[in-house]
Amino acid sequence: MTGMKHARDFDEHSITEAVAERFSATPDPRLKTIMTSLVRHLHDFVREVEPSFDEWLATIDFLTRTGKMCDDKRQEFILLSDTLGISMLVDAINHRMPEGATATTVLGPFYVMGAPELALGSDISGGFEGMPLHVASTVRSVEGRPVAGAIVDVWQSDDDGYYDVQRPDLEAPALRARFRTDQNGRFSFWSIMPTFYPIPDDGPVGDMLKATKRHPYRPAHIHFMIAAEGFETLITHVFVEGDPYLDGDAVFGVKQSLIAEFKAHGPGEAPDGRRLDRDWRSLAYDFGLKPAISRG
Ligand code: BEZ
Ligand code: FE
Repeated sequence: MTGMKHARDFDEHSITEAVAERFSATPDPRLKTIMTSLVRHLHDFVREVEPSFDEWLATIDFLTRTGKMCDDKRQEFILLSDTLGISMLVDAINHRMPEGATATTVLGPFYVMGAPELALGSDISGGFEGMPLHVASTVRSVEGRPVAGAIVDVWQSDDDGYYDVQRPDLEAPALRARFRTDQNGRFSFWSIMPTFYPIPDDGPVGDMLKATKRHPYRPAHIHFMIAAEGFETLITHVFVEGDPYLDGDAVFGVKQSLIAEFKAHGPGEAPDGRRLDRDWRSLAYDFGLKPAISRG
């Protein structure tokens, strides 16, 4: 019986519905939707690209190396999601923000839980050299009410583009801290100007960037995570206006509303009375928190 096609013989089109059908008894309706959609999209991708066996093996090898690169400090799959724009797509779908709420962006791999809580106005530079920077902000609800007692985590790169966790010789946290907003929803601190820097590119994601002639740089920014009772935790950054990588962020995390002027000042007295004998900068950027339960 040659030449006759049996119903069992899936072809390159009918196999898709056969696999989707295999998930028809999935009790969790959300899991069923996800699995059948995943199969349909992956099959369409394979039909479009028509990979050779060698190409498919190279794909499996890439994903295997990505998994092997992951440990408690390095999450190469998140980096892959970031560099393919998927992290920001998931962010956009899940953070349709009301008027007055600060836009969100990627968390990134350099957040560390348990940063030291410091007094308002502290210097977080940890002895790192760089252009002094004063940051002063107010945290408000979308109605404009100041949020007192909000927990504000901040972290940033140093003048060479490294985070403290990338310098194993450091004994104490640097350029990261936790603050608590005062009665007027305000917090402030001293730091140094962050610089643009490359995302970790010594793994498979870096290989992908090199093979596709993509650069690994992120524009200079300071990370903020702001948590307060009754509000959604805000994960965001503020980017330095004028940075050369604002339009080419390797992880697509820039939003126009998150770009701010880091105002230049000559030597003199800062708003908190500190005297500087060199140039310095200041950032005044206010944050709006989205209510935890959306009304209406
Ligand atoms: C960061 O800004 O720290 C970052 C975000 C995504 C990937 C790598 C680094
Ligand atoms: Fe960063």
